[in-house]
Amino acid sequence: MHPIDHIGIAVNDLEASIKMYQETFGYEVDEREILEKSGVELVFLKAPNTLLELLRPLNDQSPIAKFLAKRGQGIHHICFRVPDIEAELKKLADQGVELIDKTPRPGAYNSKIAFIHPSSTDGTLIELCQREV
Ligand code: CO
Repeated sequence: MHPIDHIGIAVNDLEASIKMYQETFGYEVDEREILEKSGVELVFLKAPNTLLELLRPLNDQSPIAKFLAKRGQGIHHICFRVPDIEAELKKLADQGVELIDKTPRPGAYNSKIAFIHPSSTDGTLIELCQREV
């Protein structure tokens, strides 16, 4: 079992959503990053036992742009934090799990991340990350 590192939430307007989470729930911004290659801008909000990751698309080709167009704003993925992402991906591949990323790519907080295809996880997009906490 792995701890939940964060919950990813796709939004149309980062500033509006940051304000909503601050004013409604008291969450504060912990980190803000642009991942050009993944086509997203990310804002992490600190919760006591996990993080909320707000995602905004950088362009129309971004997977988040496609998600928003198809499904609208809302929960996009759940991320499990693993101690050794390469070993975890190999184990999952050996189990026949369909991986979107067969090798890790760079994520926020200097992490390594990889996504698992929802067809292998009962419809939920699962991200794995390896990072120092
Ligand atoms: Co994420």
